[in-house]
Amino acid sequence: MMPARLPRILLINASLAGESGNTSVLLARARRRLARRASLTVITLAGNEAPDFAALRPQIAEADGLLIGTGTHWDSWSSVLQKFLEDATPAEGTALWLGKPVAVIVSEHSTGGKGVLSRLQGVLVTLGCTLPPMSGLVLSRAALIATRHDAEAGRDFWCIEDLRIVCHNLIEAASGTCHWKTWPVDRETFSDRWVR
Ligand SMILES: Cc1cc2nc3c(=O)[nH]c(=O)nc-3n(C[C@H](O)[C@H](O)[C@H](O)COP(=O)(O)O)c2cc1C
Repeated sequence: MMPARLPRILLINASLAGESGNTSVLLARARRRLARRASLTVITLAGNEAPDFAALRPQIAEADGLLIGTGTHWDSWSSVLQKFLEDATPAEGTALWLGKPVAVIVSEHSTGGKGVLSRLQGVLVTLGCTLPPMSGLVLSRAALIATRHDAEAGRDFWCIEDLRIVCHNLIEAASGTCHWKTWPVDRETFSDRWVR
């Protein structure tokens, strides 16, 4: 059965490079995945025209779910996201955030992205948000290059197709239907010795 109305998803582009960065490409992909099942709004935190937190607040309040994208910058999220979180602090634990499902996409060259993802998810939960299962993804340039050379080994790395699961689970959480999906998981070779 179709829900009474489509859930509203707010995509927050927290790239340092604004609309010309890698995050923008990832969010465009996510939009294509989400478009059939949600009504979408995209905001970009970087740039001269960027809205401040007060201007964004009504859009956050209206959203049934959030998708945040950031690069990895010296083992942390972008400075524009840091400012956003600092400006959001007075709203910690209020209805603006409480119970709001949030998904996160982090990109990186090679290292640090999983730490960024885990810490960011921790901050979001502290603000009051909830995390749908399998709703956080780190896309690594190093992993993409490695997978091109060894597709079999790369099966256990996050890949761009996993965005499908992130988007699906976000929609399920935002609609309250909770029919979760998972990305492929290696349950056989994960403990093999690989140092030779
Ligand atoms: C100032 C700066 C610092 C970076 N630091 C890291 C890092 O610590 N680890 C890493 O793997 N990649 C790092 N990168 C690469 C970016 O995380 C990566 O290119 C990401 O996709 C950028 O996202 P964006 O294009 O949306 O801003 C850094 C890039 C910049 C510009």
